[in-house]
Amino acid sequence: MGYVDVHCHLLPGIDDGSQNMEQTMEMLRIAEANGITDAIVTPHYKQGRVGTPRKVIGEMIQEVESLARQDGLSIRLHPGTEIYYNSSLEEKLESGWLSRMNDTEYVLVEFNPLENYSYVRNAMEDLLGMGYHPILAHVERYQCMLGSLENIRSLRGLGCRIQVNAGSVAGNYGFKVKHFIKKLLKEELIDYVGTDAHDVRSRSPEMKKCAEVIRKYCDPEYADDVLFRNAMTELLAE
Ligand SMILES: [Fe+2]
Repeated sequence: MGYVDVHCHLLPGIDDGSQNMEQTMEMLRIAEANGITDAIVTPHYKQGRVGTPRKVIGEMIQEVESLARQDGLSIRLHPGTEIYYNSSLEEKLESGWLSRMNDTEYVLVEFNPLENYSYVRNAMEDLLGMGYHPILAHVERYQCMLGSLENIRSLRGLGCRIQVNAGSVAGNYGFKVKHFIKKLLKEELIDYVGTDAHDVRSRSPEMKKCAEVIRKYCDPEYADDVLFRNAMTELLAE
């Protein structure tokens, strides 16, 4: 079974991820070589700053996939968005302008890394109240989470899902982050991994090292859950 990347910036020329189609193809080759069979593409949305409508994301996926097939690649792409939370998302979500995760009720949400916990919690409750399942993007990036596993347990208790970046699991962002992630893995507090790939160099779609670390520290069933099964059943089921 291959891996599912639930967070990446593979579509060309629409955010700070891939800058052009050539780079997108190179990223797809790296992803596939890393065992990724499915990627949910999650271009940034930040109100008044950057954003791509669901319709355009779908058209771009078709174009990229058709070029990828010509290139002999079989990786499948699915629509998503990395939503920078603000308190007036409802209209854009309800109208379908904003892409959820593969058109399910799951939405990938990010915050300022220095945001305080009560704000994050209220935001998640806001989204849950609208009927969505929020996924906290790169949990290891927030000060209020690094200091407190209890905050993460509480969010999961509300019904939130937790995503970590593959590079952080692999140890690319230092000992403190890796140590934190080990604790999360031991308590099985992580639901999905994403590469959060932006380019082909420092932030490329690599998953192999991350998978090795997860398999080393976790029960095999839970490792499969995090690396592909949760995403397959919750986000990619037909
Ligand atoms: Fe991202």
